[in-house]
Amino acid sequence: MNKEYFDRACRVTPGGVHSPVRAFRGVGGVPRFIASAKGVILEDIEGMSYTDYCLAFGPMIFGHQDPDVLEAVQAALHRGWSYGTAEPYSLLLAECIVKHVPHIEKIRFVNSGTEAVMAALRVARAATGRSLIVKCDGGYHGHADSMLVRSGSGLAEMTEPDSAGVSRLVAQETLVVPLSDFDAISRVFDERGASIAAIILEGVPANYGLLPYAPGYLRHVQECAHRAGSLLILDEVITGFRCGFGGVAAQEHLDPDLITYGKIIGGGFPVGAYGGKSCFMDLVAPLGAVYQAGTLSANPVAMTAGFVTLTKLLTDPPYERFEVLGKMLDQVPGMQRMGSIFWPVIGSTQTVRKPSDTPTQHREFYPKLFHKALAAHVYLAPSAFEVGFLATPHTEADIAKLLGLLKD
Ligand SMILES: Cc1ncc(COP(=O)(O)O)c(C=O)c1O
Repeated sequence: MNKEYFDRACRVTPGGVHSPVRAFRGVGGVPRFIASAKGVILEDIEGMSYTDYCLAFGPMIFGHQDPDVLEAVQAALHRGWSYGTAEPYSLLLAECIVKHVPHIEKIRFVNSGTEAVMAALRVARAATGRSLIVKCDGGYHGHADSMLVRSGSGLAEMTEPDSAGVSRLVAQETLVVPLSDFDAISRVFDERGASIAAIILEGVPANYGLLPYAPGYLRHVQECAHRAGSLLILDEVITGFRCGFGGVAAQEHLDPDLITYGKIIGGGFPVGAYGGKSCFMDLVAPLGAVYQAGTLSANPVAMTAGFVTLTKLLTDPPYERFEVLGKMLDQVPGMQRMGSIFWPVIGSTQTVRKPSDTPTQHREFYPKLFHKALAAHVYLAPSAFEVGFLATPHTEADIAKLLGLLKD
C-alpha cells in the first residue's frame, strides 16, 4: 500500500513529497505513509508501527498528540481558527518568550523558519544599510534564495550543492566561511566588514549531521561581527527551546542581535518567529520601514499549541531527562550528541566538525542502518545528514533497542 500511494503521489507531486528528504532518496526504498502518530509511535497506512526518532524533524519534543497540547488545540478550534485580527493567543506566546529568553525584547510570528530567516536578514540589511550576509558552509537556514548557497539539510544529499534557480546576483551577496575556522571569520570581517549586514549561523550546526562548533567559536564570531558593526543572527530554529529553554544563546551567554525560531515554537503547527533587540525589531512595519506580513501569521490554533508547549517546557523541563537518555546513546562509537539531538557517524574516529570531515563510510552505510532500523520498527531520519531527536515519551527500553541497532 505504501508503494501504491507513493506511485500515486509521484503522479501529482514532484518526487511524491512536499519536502525533499521525505522521499527516501538518500536511503532508497519507499517512503512510509504515516496515517497517525501518538507518543513516539508512528503508524503507517499498512498498520506497521515505528518508534520515531525523526519527530517531524524536531518540533515534537513532547511526542505526538501530547494530551495537554491536544486539549488546548481542541478548545482553540471551537473558538475559530483564523481571524486576521489582533488576538490574545499570540500575545500569551510572545509574553512568555520575552519574559524567559533574555535576548528577546520583541518578537514577530511568521509561518516557518524560512520566513523567519528571510525577515531577519531584511531587518539586518535595513539596520546597517549594508548588503552582504555571511553564513557557514553546510549551514541550513531554510530555502530563501540567498541562503541556498553551500547549504545543508536536503541539499547535503544532492550532488550539486546549490539550488538551481538562484540568481547569481543574489548568491554573490552571500559570503560562505568554513565552519569553526577562526581565521576565516577574522579575515572576512577584516576585509569586507564595512559591507557585511549580518552573519547568520545555527545555534549548533544540525543540518549536515550535527557538527559541534570548536570551543569559543561562537564568541569569536560575535566579537568579529560586533566590532565591524554587523549583526549577529543566531538561527535557533532547531536549538530554540530544545537546548534549554533559552537555546544556545542562553547556554553560551551570547548577545545575538536577532534570533530566528521555528519547529518547537509552534508545538508541531506551522510557526516561525524572529525576535531580538527592540532597536532592530522596531524597524519592522507598521512601526518601521521593513515590510513583513502574513495572512495566516500568528494563527490562533498554532499560537495555542506553541504556548502550551513552551509553558510545559518551563513548568516541567525535560532537559535533565534527555541528558540521562542521551548518555546511554554516547556508548555508540562515533555518536555526536548535544542534549536531545544526536547523529551517529558511521566510521568516525574523531569529532566531525565540518561537512568535509564526514567519513566516506557514513554516506555509504547509513542507508543500510536506516533500513535495518526500519525493519526493526525504528524510524530514523531518512538521510545520512539529518539528525535524530529525543522526545519525552522515549523510554530507557526504547533507547536500549536503538543502541542495539546502532552498535551492531
Ligand atoms: C536551522 C534551521 N533554520 C531554518 C530552517 C527552515 O525552517 P522551515 O523548514 O520551517 O522553513 C530549518 C529547517 O530545518 C533549520 O533547521
